[in-house]
Amino acid sequence: MAQQPSGLGLSELPLGVQIHKDPLTGQNLIQKGDLIFPPRKVWMKTFGCQMNYHDSERILSHLKELNFDQTEELEAADLVLFNTCAVRDLANQKFYSQLGEIKHAKKKKNGLVVGVGGCVAQTEGKELVEKYKHLDFAFGPDTIDMINDMVYRTYAGDHKFTINSWDRSENFSIETKITHGSPQAFVNIIKGCNKYCTYCIVPYTRGKERSRRKDEIVQDVKRLVEYQGIQEVMLLGQNVNSFGQENGETLAELIHDLDQINGLELLRYTTSHPYDVSDELIAIHGTAKKLAPHLHLPVQSGSGTVLQRMHREYTPEHYLGLLEKLRKVAPQIVISTDIIVGFVNETEEEFQDTLKLLDAAQFDFIYSYAYSERKKTRAAKMEDFLTDEIRMERLRYLQAYQLKIQEKIRASMVDQTFRVLIDGHGNMGGVKKYKGRTTCGRLIHFLPPEPEKDYQWHWADLKVTSASALSAQGVLVRDLGRRP
Ligand code: SAH
Ligand code: SF4
Ligand code: F3S
Repeated sequence: MAQQPSGLGLSELPLGVQIHKDPLTGQNLIQKGDLIFPPRKVWMKTFGCQMNYHDSERILSHLKELNFDQTEELEAADLVLFNTCAVRDLANQKFYSQLGEIKHAKKKKNGLVVGVGGCVAQTEGKELVEKYKHLDFAFGPDTIDMINDMVYRTYAGDHKFTINSWDRSENFSIETKITHGSPQAFVNIIKGCNKYCTYCIVPYTRGKERSRRKDEIVQDVKRLVEYQGIQEVMLLGQNVNSFGQENGETLAELIHDLDQINGLELLRYTTSHPYDVSDELIAIHGTAKKLAPHLHLPVQSGSGTVLQRMHREYTPEHYLGLLEKLRKVAPQIVISTDIIVGFVNETEEEFQDTLKLLDAAQFDFIYSYAYSERKKTRAAKMEDFLTDEIRMERLRYLQAYQLKIQEKIRASMVDQTFRVLIDGHGNMGGVKKYKGRTTCGRLIHFLPPEPEKDYQWHWADLKVTSASALSAQGVLVRDLGRRP
């Protein structure tokens, strides 16, 4: 099919969509079915994990086809969308309070359309639409590719509907859509999760595991690298380690193939489940040249009995054994993790075992959370005697404990030189400083030697002058420009 230039950043128009020019204003008008879509603005708020952020980007990319551009100003919006997270109560509460506030925006602006997507919408969409009068529609994560049909429906006069069906197709096949101009892209390789850890809501919000085919992903990444200037790719999934199981393919094979792509500089993947880390995957950390020397490997707890109650299917010893093997094949590798403290009936001794694991594992950083009971999960049915005070106390203790470990590890960065991709700048005590992340994911700030020069998305070598537990300061040794 011949490419139809649309002037909207869309190389090809979807079926049934036409573009007209408004003779009076000169604006592009998009016709879909019986409706004309003038240029409009969408304001979007995203909660949760990288998959949700990536979904939001995909939604925005679809909405361009209906003439919607993103705005940061709520007052300017014609369409308001929330992409929600259900994993802990805190994210939930933030969303509910913001949804409540939108009521006022809707009163001020006639015709403002409000939609809620994501993991909360999957499980509670119907109730939300019934309860919040100003909410027009709700949609689950498996329906985001239908967003334009939903928006069309609301402009056609249909309101108060919920679409949270599961995608019934056998294959998970999509092309990555990006809207930003950065050289970093997220690429979905597997969706859903079959693990059913007893505390976790994700299998109920994201459904069964379904992998894309390896060759399709390789073609997709090639296209991103060749035509969209992508240099860094993050492979995404709730459990990327079970990638390809239903198709007889593996993550290690996928990494091997992606490693051959000319022009791709860096490859990462997240999130990994320790149970599925194979010897083949460990080995590829020693051989793939483009694979980042960083692995996020959530352990959740250092206690064997807690891990059993969580249904994590490994022991602390097995986990530490994996780290040992990884560090053997890739001595520079940096490991990070997730920890849940205060899981149902966690004893003081079990908590101490987690501290011991922190000592043994020497994580470069951790995300840590107090256990938050989620309806529908198996853990929610367990009788729980632990109080929230104890949970919070243990969380604070654990975080302070880890910071000390981190401080020591990071101190060794001083005087070393790291290759970074410069991804932004900020104001630090009235001074403009650029920042970049090392290939192992550590943040380094530096003073630009030429204050007027734009260093954004340059690769550079930075020599670290001081390092704290969370970030480092450095000096620019070599500016490699936009591509090394
Ligand atoms: N698929 C990933 C991440 C899932 S959610 C994995 O398997 O690790 C991200 C993190 O949120 C989890 O690693 C876990 O540490 C935390 N989390 C999930 N459910 C939680 C709950 N009910 N309470 C507190 N933290 C939770
Ligand atoms: Fe949740 Fe466990 Fe699946 Fe991760 S592996 S998404 S923690 S059920
Ligand atoms: Fe949250 Fe859903 Fe991600 S529950 S962590 S947004 S998969």
